Amino acid sequence: MADLVTGIDIGSTSLKIVVLSLKGKNPKLITLGSSPLPGTGMNSDADIDLENISQVIKNLLVAIKAPNCPVVVALPESKIFTRVISDLPFLTDDELASAIKYSAEEFVPLPTDQVNLYWEVIERSKQNNRTMVFVVASPKNTVSRYMKVLNYAKLKPLALETELIASARALVGSNIYAPTTMIVQFGASSTDYAVVSKGVILLTRSIATGGLALTRAVAQYLDFEFPQAEQYKKVYGIMQDQLEGKIYQALKPLVDLMVVEAVRIIQAFQAKNKQNPIKRVVLSGAGAKLPGIVVYFANSLGLEVQEADPWFSLDKDQNMIKKFQADAPSFSVAVGLALRGE
Ligand SMILES: Nc1ncnc2c1ncn2[C@@H]1O[C@H](COP(=O)(O)OP(=O)(O)OP(=O)(O)O)[C@@H](O)[C@H]1O
Ligand SMILES: [Mg+2]
Repeated sequence: MADLVTGIDIGSTSLKIVVLSLKGKNPKLITLGSSPLPGTGMNSDADIDLENISQVIKNLLVAIKAPNCPVVVALPESKIFTRVISDLPFLTDDELASAIKYSAEEFVPLPTDQVNLYWEVIERSKQNNRTMVFVVASPKNTVSRYMKVLNYAKLKPLALETELIASARALVGSNIYAPTTMIVQFGASSTDYAVVSKGVILLTRSIATGGLALTRAVAQYLDFEFPQAEQYKKVYGIMQDQLEGKIYQALKPLVDLMVVEAVRIIQAFQAKNKQNPIKRVVLSGAGAKLPGIVVYFANSLGLEVQEADPWFSLDKDQNMIKKFQADAPSFSVAVGLALRGE
C-alpha cells in the first residue's frame, strides 16, 4: 500500500486536492487545498481549456506543497453509468464478464464499445445460486479527457473512480454496522445520490440541477448579476425568515426538485429492500453549506439529515482544516479518493 496518496477532484467549478498518509493506524491529513477552475471546468472539450486546468492543478499542488506521490482522480457522476445487477445466478468469472456486457447494453445509452466497463462483486454464492455485482460504465471519451489533463500535468493516476464511490468511502466507509445511508452530493452542475449499505453502494443517480442553477434562479428572481446572486444564495439560503423569504422563494422550486428525486430514490430502494430501510441522509458537496438545507431536507424526508464531515476519520491538525470549514463538505470526494490507496 502506498504511504502517501493524493486525491484530485476536478469539479465543474472548482478543484479540490487532499493528500493523506495511509501508513499509520488512522489515515492522516498531510495537506489540502482548493482552487476555482476557469470556464466550464471539465465540461469543456477544447484542448486549450484542458491545458488550463492542468496548469491550475500544477499550481495548487505546488501551493499546498503536495509531495510527489500517486494520485487518484474522480470521474464525474453525471457522465458515468452505474448499476447494481442483483438478478444473476451463480456465475464463473468468464460468465460474469459476458453477463455484465450483455446487461450494460440495457443501462448504458451508448454502444458498449465506447465505454470502459468495471465491476465489483458484492456477493457471489453457490449455495443461494446468486451473484450481485456493482457495474460502472465510463464513456471512453470522458476518460480520455481526464487522462489528457493528467498527462499535461505530468501525473500518472493510480486509478480513476466515480465521485460517489469516493464520497461513500469518505463518509460511510466500510463499516458494516453503519446505518443504511443516502448521500446527497450538491455540486455546481449536478446533484448526485447514492444509497450505501454495509459499506456497499446499492444505488446511484444524478440529476442535472446543481448549485449553478440555484444561483441562476436567484439572479432571475431578483434581477441580480450572477456574482451578487451567488452571494445572496450563500448568505440567506433556503430560510423563510431571511430577507422576507425572497431567496427562499427563488430557490424553493429547484430545491424541491432535489427533494423529489431523493423521495423517489428512497421509495424505490425501500420497495426492493423492505428489511433494510434508509436510516439517515448525509449532505455532501459545497452546496451542502446552503443555509437551511439540512432542516429543509429533514422536514421534507422525515429522516435524520446531517452535513457531511469528510475529516471525521482522519488524524489532522486542526489549524490545517480551520481555513476550509466554510466548505468542508466539498472535500468529501477528494478525501475518499486519497483513502482508496492502491
Ligand atoms: N456556502 C454555500 N452555500 C450554498 N452554496 C454554496 C456554498 N458554497 C458553495 N456553494 C455552491 O456549491 C457549488 C460548488 O460545489 P462543489 O465545489 O462541490 O462543485 P463542483 O465539484 O465544482 O461541481 P460538480 O461536482 O457539479 O462538477 C457552487 O454552485 C456554489 O455556489
Ligand atoms: Mg464536485
